[in-house]
Amino acid sequence: MTNPTTTTKTDGAEVKNMFPDNEFFSSSDKQVIDDDHQYAAHHYERLATVVRKTEGCYLYTADGRKILDCLAAYSSANAGHHNPKIVQGVVDSLTEKRGSVISNVVYTSALSIFLKKLSTFLPQLGPRFGANGNKSLPKNGGVESVETALKLARYYGWKERGIEDGKQEIIVFDNNFHGRTISVISFSSSEKYREGFGPMTPGFPSAPYGDLEATKALVNENTCGILVEPMQGEGGMNVPPPDFLAGLRTLADENNLMLIFDEIQVGLGRTGKDFCFQHENVIPDAVILGKALSGGLTPLSALVTNSKLMDMVFTPGKDGSTYGGNPLACAAGIAALDNHVADRLSERSAEMGAKLKARLEEIAKKSSKIKEVRGRGLFIGVEVNDGDAMKYCHQLLEMDMMANDSHGHTIRISPPLTIGDAEIDYICERMEKVLC
Ligand SMILES: Cc1ncc(COP(=O)(O)O)c(C=O)c1O
Repeated sequence: MTNPTTTTKTDGAEVKNMFPDNEFFSSSDKQVIDDDHQYAAHHYERLATVVRKTEGCYLYTADGRKILDCLAAYSSANAGHHNPKIVQGVVDSLTEKRGSVISNVVYTSALSIFLKKLSTFLPQLGPRFGANGNKSLPKNGGVESVETALKLARYYGWKERGIEDGKQEIIVFDNNFHGRTISVISFSSSEKYREGFGPMTPGFPSAPYGDLEATKALVNENTCGILVEPMQGEGGMNVPPPDFLAGLRTLADENNLMLIFDEIQVGLGRTGKDFCFQHENVIPDAVILGKALSGGLTPLSALVTNSKLMDMVFTPGKDGSTYGGNPLACAAGIAALDNHVADRLSERSAEMGAKLKARLEEIAKKSSKIKEVRGRGLFIGVEVNDGDAMKYCHQLLEMDMMANDSHGHTIRISPPLTIGDAEIDYICERMEKVLC
């Protein structure tokens, strides 16, 4: 039996437990890992670290380690873990019994308030369809909203453009990452994501990211949309070449295509602007958001588009989700958007990101191991010459800094946007030790 006052580290040493005496804190690390191996699907290769508590920019383990989180759950924890204002929003919702899940056959104030805030937070999308305002369709995980966006583009192609149903094509880009459903892995460049899961969903020709001419060459009479990440995260932290997004906008206008930006990872301040597309002043027809949308407290995602387009496609029966837009997630979303504005998270990301990138570039000058430092705001990639970023991430974790690789060759640094100068020093000290 586990002694609740002690915990066992993975190396077998017993240390005093600094946390409350309940099963979440008193089980040994070994027990947690053994049970995970016995009962959990092995679809993640986890690091041998058991996190018991999170707060702000840090993760805490039972043996007293305080680890700087430079991954922030892939941009979900932009506002910092357990941000007190967002937690309060969720606690108030629970305490006042506003409902955590209510059948979607009735209205709730939480959903109305959240979707009004979200729809008006974005500029007018798809302005060529008129100044109708935006409407949003809420879901849970990000990939669900990607699927909703694919439905939007295909239906638009059929209804408005007269493309035969079943022939619609949406152009995507090599090394994209949009999630893990069958349709979405169908257009992944990663063979590993697709292997054995056929048949794949057709209708997704792919161009090299950043290559406008190759994209143009894919357009034909069945093309109804373009789906793109305004900066690729999982694909290697790739900033698009200047004018690429603007070129896609022109291409979409000339051919009457739906231009959809997946801002699930790069939106909501991550790259130093509210939305990554604002770096180039390009307005898409639809935007997909997730991750940080709930302040990291509950699953919450959304597709936002011009009201006219939303109304054209999504009439009753055309879509739905039991938990999509549930009042608890909306309470988190309302508090997260309010906090995003009040705490000027985009500006913070721009300011701290510029400082961090400049320091990393200085380190790169002294290092033979670094190929390139690139990124925007607090979304920074450090590509290594030997192509094995994870090796360095393991070393960084030993120094209490958690980062992971992007596309194998790049160390991704994307901490909560609330980091300060002390955390920048912390990151740079460790990056220098590992890479110089
Ligand atoms: C750009 C992008 N799109 C979609 C997704 C899928 O989101 P989820 O894992 O919440 O389904 C991710 C997740 O990492 C992402 O980075």
